[in-house]
This record gives sequence, structure tokens and C-alpha cells, in this order.
Amino acid sequence: MERQTKVIAIANQKGGVGKTTTVVNLAAALSARKRAVLVIDLDPQAHATLGLGLEKQPGVSMYPVLTGAKDVADVIQPTKWDNLNVIPSEVDLAGAEVELAMRNDRLEVIRNVLSPVKASGAFDYIILDCPPSLGLVMTSALAATDSVLIPSQAEYLAMDGLALITNSIEKLRAGVNPTLELNGIVFTMVNSVARLTTDVIEEVRAHFGEKVYETVIPRNVRVSEAPSMGTPVVFLDARSKGAEAYKAFAWEFMAKNPTRFAAPVPPPPPPAPAAEPPPVPVPDAATEPVAEDAASSSAASLPQG
Ligand SMILES: Nc1ncnc2c1ncn2[C@@H]1O[C@H](COP(=O)(O)OP(=O)(O)O)[C@@H](O)[C@H]1O
Ligand SMILES: [Mg+2]
Repeated sequence: MERQTKVIAIANQKGGVGKTTTVVNLAAALSARKRAVLVIDLDPQAHATLGLGLEKQPGVSMYPVLTGAKDVADVIQPTKWDNLNVIPSEVDLAGAEVELAMRNDRLEVIRNVLSPVKASGAFDYIILDCPPSLGLVMTSALAATDSVLIPSQAEYLAMDGLALITNSIEKLRAGVNPTLELNGIVFTMVNSVARLTTDVIEEVRAHFGEKVYETVIPRNVRVSEAPSMGTPVVFLDARSKGAEAYKAFAWEFMAKNPTRFAAPVPPPPPPAPAAEPPPVPVPDAATEPVAEDAASSSAASLPQG
């Protein structure tokens, strides 16, 4: 079984749309499916760090890595949960905008520091939680990723917000990251009874087609309570509506973003001449798209230096 690490930025220039909640719970649900995950918290507010049960620690973030003071392997922290690792945020990360602004290679810095982590194959998914602005940190994050996942609320002017970020993606494709893809759009905090909600979702689906995830995350009080407990809702209350939605979303996400590929199988011998044709296997919708690989990895298996 070969593994190909996927780097995904979760971004939207708007704050409060559910980016961090999606990072934390997607990562948690993927790790529960034995996918090795690294979350990188790029927001100085550190909500993803706290939501994954870690404390802020001075000097443990992407900031010293961007300045060259530390190696990326030195800031990867395990969480309480298997397969779930994080590069935390801290107040110093607020200086990253300034640090990047002073550098000529500003758009390549994050990509360059992540490239050995990606190449090591230690993780299935590296998920970046972006700050809510179209600043240099978010732009360099998008320059470093394979694709961008956009959480959006289903509200008035949602299309305008989506247009802003998809324009940024187009600009990066024309420049520093020609292979950057729109991973998809996921609706968050959805109140399914509101007429406006269904109208907005229909409008966005008409425009973005299958890029819009089928799974919609409902507004759910357990989701908003979980961060104060330092535990993703998918672990805190796995039966809540919010947790069920994030688990279904992770399933859909894995199917659209496979990271494990079976080694090529030799072709079967030709069938005996008079034999009955074998029954066609009926695909089971509940079967995981890629076979499980019990071997999981953590930051410990990363090459140092
Ligand atoms: N599905 C949901 N149901 C209820 N509250 C939610 C849900 N998703 C997010 N929230 C709450 O909304 C606020 C903003 O979410 P957050 O993920 O921090 O957004 P962002 O990272 O885009 O700023 C937080 O207080 C969070 O707990
Ligand atoms: Mg956030």
C-alpha cells in the first residue's frame, strides 16, 4: 500500500464561518479512520490548538520554523488521540505576516518547510487552518497546498465571499502554484428549515456543481461547546448531530481525496472456456473507498533535520 500525502488548506477570508471547527473535527474524524493527520494552526488566535486539547507554548509554532530558528520536526506535537498531530499556534505567530513581508521568497517559505514532511510520507493529510484574511500567511499557505477547502455559511452574499477566494485561487494558479485546486465547498452552521438557506445552497451548487460537498454541517450546540473542553465534538459526543455530520463529511472527503493506493495486482488468468461468468460484485455504499492500512504513523517517524 503506497501513501501519498495530501496538503489541504481550509480557508475563507471571512471569520466565524466554521474554518477552525471544520479543521478540528475533520482531522479528528480522519484520525479515527486510521488516517495519520497533521494539523497546522496558522491563526495567532490558536483556536485549533486549544480545540485539540493543547496549550499555547512560546516557541512551539510555525513562527520559529519560518524564521529558520527551528526545524519543522521540532514543533510537531502529538495530541491525546492516535494519528492526530498538530503544529500549534502561539502569540508570536502574529509576527509571521511581518516576517514574510520582509522576505523575497515569501510565497515559497511554507511550501519549502513542508516539503520534507510531505515527502516523508508520515501523514495522509496535512491540514492548514488559515487566519481570516487574504494576507501573506494565507497566500503562502495556499502556495504550499494541493487544494483549498472552503467552509461557508449558507447566507445572503455567500456567493460574493466565494468569488473572492476563488479569485485568489486563480491568481495563485497563474503564478506560484499552478496545480492548486479547489478541493470543495462545505456548508457549515446550517439551519435546514430556513428558506434562504436552501436557496443559497442551490445557487452555489448551480455554480460550483460537484465541488460542493453533499454533506452539510448543521448548527448544533454540542459543536460550539466542544472547544471549551479541548476535545473535538466527534470524540466528545460522537452521537450528536454535529459529530455525525462531521463523520459523514470525513467519509466523503476521504473518498474524494484518497491517499492510499494498492500496489498493482497482476491480471487474473483467462477464464475456462465453458465456465459460468462470475457474479458481478455489487458495490456496497458503506464500504470504505480505500482499504484500511493498520499501520499508522506519528511525528516520531519523521526524519530529523
Ligand atoms: N456547526 C456548528 N454549530 C454551532 N456552532 C458552531 C458550528 N460551527 C462553528 N460553530 C461556532 O461558531 C464560531 C465560529 O466558528 P470557527 O470554526 O471558529 O470559525 P472560523 O475559524 O471561520 O473563524 C465558534 O464559536 C464555533 O464554536
Ligand atoms: Mg478560525
